[in-house]
Amino acid sequence: MNNENTLNLPIKYLRPLVTQYNQIADSSNWNRFTTIPTEGLNPDSISDGQKEAIAFCTFIEDHTPRYIEDYRKRFPIGEEVGIERSISNRELFHFLVRWGVEEDRHAQALAVYQVRSGIVRNQESLEEELIRENVKEFHLGFAEPVQVFTYTFLQEKATQIYYQCLAKAVKEPVLKTLLLYLAKDESRHFSFFTGVLDAFIACYGKRVLPLIQEVAGNYRMPLFSTLPDYARRAIRMAREAPGYSRKMPIQILAAHLESLSAHMPEWARDLRETSRNILLQNNLLKN
Ligand SMILES: [Fe+2]
Ligand SMILES: [Fe+2]
Repeated sequence: MNNENTLNLPIKYLRPLVTQYNQIADSSNWNRFTTIPTEGLNPDSISDGQKEAIAFCTFIEDHTPRYIEDYRKRFPIGEEVGIERSISNRELFHFLVRWGVEEDRHAQALAVYQVRSGIVRNQESLEEELIRENVKEFHLGFAEPVQVFTYTFLQEKATQIYYQCLAKAVKEPVLKTLLLYLAKDESRHFSFFTGVLDAFIACYGKRVLPLIQEVAGNYRMPLFSTLPDYARRAIRMAREAPGYSRKMPIQILAAHLESLSAHMPEWARDLRETSRNILLQNNLLKN
């Protein structure tokens, strides 16, 4: 996927971010089967809308094998990319597997919850439903590494806010606890991708800003093109989590770029301009 002109993040930028992530992640464990209590589970207090929302989130989380696969293809270790890139991609792998474990834990914890609370008939039927989505063609789109990281920045923020807002609305105590565990993990993921974006800007300056802007102009949740009835389901799921809006991650990205301008005087004007363009192209700012 890479060519000579691809902007890759040099190892000196990447290593501290991965190390910092794993230093925290290695101590942030919870058990998908036992940490979330089963006593007190009260399925009658889950609304139909909330059940649908949980089912939707399970689909998104359950796509983890495909997300990781996509990253592995983009950041391979092998002779075809040479030693230097392989060292960087090996470093990224330290993050990738850990992140993958955490996202996979989300998928399975949600699936377990669906079974225990009776949202689904049984584990087998849920597994089949999930795998039917998993086997579909999956492309994240975007050619440049900084764009893949920007996309994931948005996605991590979206899931973090969504779980927080849904947790507030949910009455069922076990689900509330589970959602807060998920939100905590998503918040760590978001911090990592924020660090990566900042590192790209520190390394390449304004060259990466149009690439970031392009992603913000075409942002869609994963599976929007494959999950049946996606648009209707996405609207309904948003309704279940008061305070969440699809555009919040975009606003946060724009605000982040704006705030970086204070620390990066040489790119301040470009950062502010990109931030403004992102808001404009998403109808978040009036001309
Ligand atoms: Fe997740
Ligand atoms: Fe995440």
